[in-house]
Amino acid sequence: MHIVAICSQKGGSGKTTLSGHLAVQAHRAGDGPVVLVDCDPQGSLAAWWNARELPGPDFARTTLGSLEEDIARLRDRAFRYLFVDTPPAASAAIARVMHFANLILVPTRPSPHDLRAVRATLDLAERAGKPLVFVVNGATARSRLTTDAAVALSQHGTVAPVLVSQKVIMASSMIDGRTVMETHPESPSAREIESLWDYVRERLARLANREAFLRRRPAATGFGRRQIEGEEAEAPAAVGELA
Ligand SMILES: Nc1ncnc2c1ncn2[C@@H]1O[C@H](COP(=O)(O)OP(=O)(O)O)[C@@H](O)[C@H]1O
Ligand SMILES: [Mg+2]
Repeated sequence: MHIVAICSQKGGSGKTTLSGHLAVQAHRAGDGPVVLVDCDPQGSLAAWWNARELPGPDFARTTLGSLEEDIARLRDRAFRYLFVDTPPAASAAIARVMHFANLILVPTRPSPHDLRAVRATLDLAERAGKPLVFVVNGATARSRLTTDAAVALSQHGTVAPVLVSQKVIMASSMIDGRTVMETHPESPSAREIESLWDYVRERLARLANREAFLRRRPAATGFGRRQIEGEEAEAPAAVGELA
């Protein structure tokens, strides 16, 4: 099971919007089974899912406190992708979510406030040794602010090559439990989410391949450690850009 945590200290950056949209897109693309969890006590994602009448993705109830056991349970049920929506914080609780994640997505609006806030989330991800990708959300066409934001973020880490535009339909589509791919399937916003999921899926696959490679790699050839019979190589922490 690939676990994607959507984290950002900043409220309103698009965590819940992207969690719902990416999970639905993974389901629609036939990559499932997909499950969502909402770790934000505000429960916006849970409320969206409860309003949803269309089939998939699944939703599992959890809390930050029971996340570990709940993830184990979801692994047993053979879900392929788990998306974790989180509250706007850079706290020990968020660090715990990151600990379970294979990839952390950080939605960031192209505004000076959002850019200033990325440091705390980035520090947590680095400490957890987990790869992180920024997603510029709320982008406006031909805006200097958007280009500047992408450039500024690229100084800190990987930026998704797909920008998610600021569009009313992104917000309105979620009112009755749907997503923009379902309310406006021909829209550029739907194309953006499809491309973003293609990118995230590809990245997760590469990360999984790399982890499998490191697990297979004999200890003696790896990191200059003397091989002791039965001893396994320790994989280095997967920080930042991996491939
Ligand atoms: N790309 C977008 N275009 C238009 N509105 C957006 C977009 N992304 C998010 N929103 C809106 O912005 C607000 C905050 O988004 P939300 O996903 O709830 O952020 P967070 O979960 O990070 O607090 C919501 O009202 C949402 O509908
Ligand atoms: Mg939210």
